[in-house]
Amino acid sequence: MIADLARCVAEAYEVALPHRGKGKVADYIPALATVDPNRFGFALALPDGTVHTAGDVDIPFSIQSVSKVFTLALALRRLGSSLWTSVGREPSGSAFNSIVQLESENGIPRNPLINAGAIATTDRLIDGRGDEATVAEILDFLRARAGDDSIAIDAEVAASESETGARNRSLGYFMKGFGNLHHPVEEALGVYFRQCAIAMSCRQLARAGLFLAMEGRDPITGEQLIKPHRARRINAIMMLCGHYDNSGEFAFRVGLPGKSGVGGGILCIAPGQGSIAVWSPGLTEAGTSLVGAVALEHFAYAAGWSVF
Ligand code: DON
Repeated sequence: MIADLARCVAEAYEVALPHRGKGKVADYIPALATVDPNRFGFALALPDGTVHTAGDVDIPFSIQSVSKVFTLALALRRLGSSLWTSVGREPSGSAFNSIVQLESENGIPRNPLINAGAIATTDRLIDGRGDEATVAEILDFLRARAGDDSIAIDAEVAASESETGARNRSLGYFMKGFGNLHHPVEEALGVYFRQCAIAMSCRQLARAGLFLAMEGRDPITGEQLIKPHRARRINAIMMLCGHYDNSGEFAFRVGLPGKSGVGGGILCIAPGQGSIAVWSPGLTEAGTSLVGAVALEHFAYAAGWSVF
């Protein structure tokens, strides 16, 4: 039976709506703390260009750690498999900003979606070009994917990230001490803070993720952006590591590769089917949108899209 996807989106939104305001808005980056906790948007982008939406789907929010998926794709495209000398692909079972495993594991982060691994990935993506060119590549990629040149970095959030970035600097210097950063720590972090501070709406983010659902090919522009096996592997990493120490729970409940951000966004990929972005700022302990996860759980069940 083919599900009525517009109806599945509407139902997922309705089911999750009563949970709005639950969870805790991230405040360790002060500029994130001012967001309205009652915001909630759900957008499903399909390969034929259709987008089914509910709620606040056109309000830009801070994509935060969702950006790590895109920098991973860009780094793999640029560097190929040599990226895996800098970062692993195992779940960490630890918090997003944890440092503990780095000491016993030679400064090689477990995976590209925890902060340490994302910083190492971004460092490799710089590839000697400097921070401005790297940030420009990330922004250009997202603008092209979303078909919207207005996508930009929120300068206030980026400054706030840097001012409160002691943990991330610690991760950067610790890796540098092991020889696992190729550029100055501040250069790598300068890109990392800005990629996290990119603001996008659910509609834009869902559209931007479509290439991951379609074996690396953007179905709207027809461009093959990354090799098919790389898209599959990014999805595997999202499934196993996309929510840090909550990744098992997310896979159990939703059954789709996903990536959370502390801005309250989640990008979820349904291989071969479509790409979903949800946004609601109240977070669980692990930094995943509480309302977003409820909505995705319901949607994946109703659509029959769990990969399991
Ligand atoms: O590095 C940080 O702490 C933030 N810019 C991003 C963290 C984040 O989004 C964690 N995800 N749930």
